[in-house]
Amino acid sequence: MFGFFHHLPCCMHADGRLNDAAKPRRTHENEILKIMKILVLGSAAGGGFPQWNCNCPNCAGVRSGGIKAKARTQSSIAVSSNGTDWVLINASPDILQQIRSNPSLQPARAIRDTGIAAVMVMDAQIDHITGLLMLREGRKKLNLYCTESVWDDLNHGLPLAKVLSHYCGVERHPIEGLSSDQTHFAPIEVPGIEGIRFHPMPLKSKAPPYSPHRNNPGPGDNNGLMIESKATGKKLFYAPGLGEIEPHVLDAMQQADCVLVDGTVWTGDEMITLGLTQKTAADMGHLQLSGPGGMIEVLDGIGTRRKVLIHINNTNPILNEDASERTVLAQHGIEVAYDGMEINL
Ligand code: MLT
Ligand code: MN
Ligand code: ZN
Repeated sequence: MFGFFHHLPCCMHADGRLNDAAKPRRTHENEILKIMKILVLGSAAGGGFPQWNCNCPNCAGVRSGGIKAKARTQSSIAVSSNGTDWVLINASPDILQQIRSNPSLQPARAIRDTGIAAVMVMDAQIDHITGLLMLREGRKKLNLYCTESVWDDLNHGLPLAKVLSHYCGVERHPIEGLSSDQTHFAPIEVPGIEGIRFHPMPLKSKAPPYSPHRNNPGPGDNNGLMIESKATGKKLFYAPGLGEIEPHVLDAMQQADCVLVDGTVWTGDEMITLGLTQKTAADMGHLQLSGPGGMIEVLDGIGTRRKVLIHINNTNPILNEDASERTVLAQHGIEVAYDGMEINL
């Protein structure tokens, strides 16, 4: 038995696979493949699916198995050019579960390690920032990319940055350089993430209920992100909270090879109809999917190859895979993101 192994080149397993030391570094492999990977860590809106205290038809149905639907964690994606080093985009309160479910985020190169090289947040909503607290055991300061408005919320409204200074600390990297027409921030390259360029842009949605900017949001409170592969020029546009389609946002959507956009609710009043809240989708800074001016109509108007909805609220009928609304989406060539979905560009 042992003799058999000794006849193999030292870098090979008995089944002919290369052992780790002999593998080309994954960076190198992917440089050759030139693939940008986008991993959907959490595809639900705030509250997740099912939401802990909700018994709406979807939440009750997914709990009991009475409907065909997948449970989903809260809003986050990760991006990598080599499959090992990632930028986390939005830090969901479910981040620990998301890391467990996505082993590529833990490359295990050292006794304490993470594949998360940096975190970039699109806004200061609870579902996009509270995961920062879960990353407090980091050995280095947490690299955090955010706008001035979001940084203000993280130091005042919900001072997580101050709290984290007593743990790993935060190294803030500003999203800044707003263009004079207020449509773009300066592009960003993240050290350690070769081959990807990030183009943040302000867009219209709502600052979080706790924020001092709640009623007077400015450019930077809510943002979208064009993620570009430098190798291929392929682009993904990400905007989980999108209340209004301004011309520069439509432009970005049109230029992208794939859009990953706000699919929070089917109708503007669906949470009111279910007796869950008094707020419309517009009050919360989200554009509804259906009807005139809705996201389906917007997506119909663009030639983008791949159209994917994300940040799906638990009340949204599209979570039920047998629902007629799901058929409507399919007819329009629109996909629904799920946890673990991979988009390779
Ligand atoms: C939103 O986008 O409106 C949020 O998901 C609300 C929340 O985090 O509770
Ligand atoms: Mn949200
Ligand atoms: Zn529900």
